[in-house]
Amino acid sequence: MSLKLLEEICKIEIDAISKIPEKEYSKFIKIGAGGDKTKFIDLVAEEATISYLEKIGYEGRIISEEIGEKRFGNKDYPIIILDPIDGTTNAIRGMIPYSISVAISNGPMLSDVYAGVVLEIPSNRIFKAEKNKGAYLNDRRIYVSNTTSLKNAIIGVDMKVRGKRYCIRELLPLIFLVKQIRILGSASLELCYVASGSLDLYIDNRGLLRITDIAAPYIIIKEAGGKILKIDGSELDCPISLKERISLIAGNSEICKEVLLKIRRNF
Ligand code: IPD
Ligand code: CA
Repeated sequence: MSLKLLEEICKIEIDAISKIPEKEYSKFIKIGAGGDKTKFIDLVAEEATISYLEKIGYEGRIISEEIGEKRFGNKDYPIIILDPIDGTTNAIRGMIPYSISVAISNGPMLSDVYAGVVLEIPSNRIFKAEKNKGAYLNDRRIYVSNTTSLKNAIIGVDMKVRGKRYCIRELLPLIFLVKQIRILGSASLELCYVASGSLDLYIDNRGLLRITDIAAPYIIIKEAGGKILKIDGSELDCPISLKERISLIAGNSEICKEVLLKIRRNF
């Protein structure tokens, strides 16, 4: 049921954004609850979800990047955690990929998330997982890669550091150690590519990610047999709140250890 609801939200959003001309995607609307500029494409996608949840009589809360928190009825749970569009810059510049990222939780912490879906646009491939039921890309079961050697690894990073130059300095040693680096512009998808083994690792040490970026891929990575850790190597968890700012590393346990060792030398 939960996965169906999350998949339905993705379909509703795709339908809504397909009706607006691409040249209108970038219209500035306001500063969203997550702190970034809400563009027209974000607004249309989010409003489609809100109307849909009202229409089906959903009871619980939603935490979404533009609107913040909204309650439907009197129940505290479940909480739907939504990034209506993750990778808005790609979308408005006519680049791929970007995504819809949506998860559901029955408690106040990230570790209470029990299902997640990330829809890759424009391919419409669906990454999804439910607690204890494995992770899937469309109908195919997926697993994180088993690459442990950095020289064979293709890793994703994020370098839009907003003035925090030390974040780039920390990652510099990796450039010389790994096979290739990718910066793709949609954190939720980059984490899903780790879940499916396309990327061997993803690291974001900027302390800028929000709960809406990572709630869905969090459960997808775990169900794909991967680790999703803080930069100090401990298990990632945090309150489901738009106030949180998160750094993380994800991959198989060995390669995460290996990378953390290499960048620690630089601290
Ligand atoms: C952004 C993307 C981007 C990352 C930013 C996120 P948005 O999400 O995931 O890759 O660098 O930190 O905020 O703004 O497109 O939802
Ligand atoms: Ca967004």
